[in-house]
Amino acid sequence: MNTILQQQKNHHRQALRPPLAKGLPVLGNALDLAGDVGDFLRKKYLELGPVFRVRALNREMVVLAGREANLFFSKEGTKYFASRAVWQDFNAQLGISRSLINMDGPDHTKYRNQLKPGYSVAMLEQNLDQAVAIVRQEVATWSTIKPQPVFNLMQRIIIQQLGLLITNYSPHEYLDDLILFSRILTATTIGKQRPKFLTYLPAYQRAKARVFELARKVIATHSTELRGDRHPDLIDHLLQFVKQEPEFLSKQEDRINAAMTPFLAGVDTAASVTAFLLYSLLKHPDILEQATVEANALFANDTLTPDNLRKLDVLQRVTLETLRMYPIAPVLFRSVTVPFEFAGYRIEAGQRVLIAISLPHHLPEFYPNPFQFDIERYSKGREEHRQPGVFAPFGLGSHLCLGMNFAQALIPLNIATILHAVRLSMVPANYQLQIDPIPTPSPNKKFQIRVAEQLE
Ligand code: HEM
Repeated sequence: MNTILQQQKNHHRQALRPPLAKGLPVLGNALDLAGDVGDFLRKKYLELGPVFRVRALNREMVVLAGREANLFFSKEGTKYFASRAVWQDFNAQLGISRSLINMDGPDHTKYRNQLKPGYSVAMLEQNLDQAVAIVRQEVATWSTIKPQPVFNLMQRIIIQQLGLLITNYSPHEYLDDLILFSRILTATTIGKQRPKFLTYLPAYQRAKARVFELARKVIATHSTELRGDRHPDLIDHLLQFVKQEPEFLSKQEDRINAAMTPFLAGVDTAASVTAFLLYSLLKHPDILEQATVEANALFANDTLTPDNLRKLDVLQRVTLETLRMYPIAPVLFRSVTVPFEFAGYRIEAGQRVLIAISLPHHLPEFYPNPFQFDIERYSKGREEHRQPGVFAPFGLGSHLCLGMNFAQALIPLNIATILHAVRLSMVPANYQLQIDPIPTPSPNKKFQIRVAEQLE
């Protein structure tokens, strides 16, 4: 009797396994997952519903998708999911055991609270002039003749801003190293869109050694005593914490990693969004015109204040629409710690999961004409992004982007500074967006600009 019951139970469980997305023999869905993953998952969601399985070679993952999945993850995330297991390759590559992004539970909360002030928008607001000066210096080097790839131009700006604003150290000599290191590290360990052998290439090894050198220098220029002559930065907060609780981050590599994190977490993400934003403006001359008027008004006064920055309207809405339309973190990676049921299907402990956080960004029930770039969505009366569970460009739950407010203020400021300084031409003028999914989705290298007119 017991066996029959058990069999029935097993059968019942099997029936409740989420459906498997069709894929190629052997490869499964590997090619789709390494390409435009957001688009692929949206199509599968429409076909299979809010929970389904995908396969990449021998790895099988469960996808949770749609508004209900976002709401479930936001509410119950810490109960059923963990980050640690999915960062194993990343940790091994850096020789670390504890980092903010791979911790869970109370330790994560504690560490996050210690670092929070170092990632806050205040780090930008205290140094607005410096942030603007970096953009102006870079823009001054842009060619009027030779087109240059936009994503790379934005990476150069953001790296220097993160270095100076968040760690009080100029990473200027390390720009190319950071770009190469971050690209290969992310693609081989997190998204696994690229094979691991790339991490053995001498160019990668050299860039990695240089980035470690940068992080050591960043730490060495800070003492464990808070300095009175400036506001404490991220590294000051880190070192204070290490002093209070040396055993929390006992490995030297973990401290070095903490000094690298703003670059690894912030560069490609913020640079991708800024590049997508510039593309959107150059494709919509009417919005570009409104944004330029606003940018000129921002710089019409001699002093730039946080208050003026907060009052930007068009540029804030353009930023929101870019984050919606071109989400650069289409999925979160997690593993299941406690079995649970979702939408009638059972998900077992140990299962790798992809939470397709940005999938609702392109569903017409939440955003009418979802593929149309429309900044009126954010105007009073519409505010489509305020519907719970439908706008998640910065993640959800306990690991919600710690640089979110910083990035949301920095991106419009950078764009305003650029629009005030130069008029840009897109090259080729009829460029149609193609997305390079690595390291994070960004306009591909063919999206280039040159300076059409110097305005300052
Ligand atoms: C528009 C630009 C950005 C986007 C779209 C973005 C997106 C994200 C997302 C989706 C996560 C969650 C990852 C997860 O749950 O697995 C995250 C985490 C994080 N981000 Fe960002 N990010 C951006 C910019 C930045 C910047 C500029 C910084 C640094 C100044 C930063 C620092 C962090 C940190 C430290 C975490 C880890 C938080 C934790 O684990 O508790 N991000 N970001």
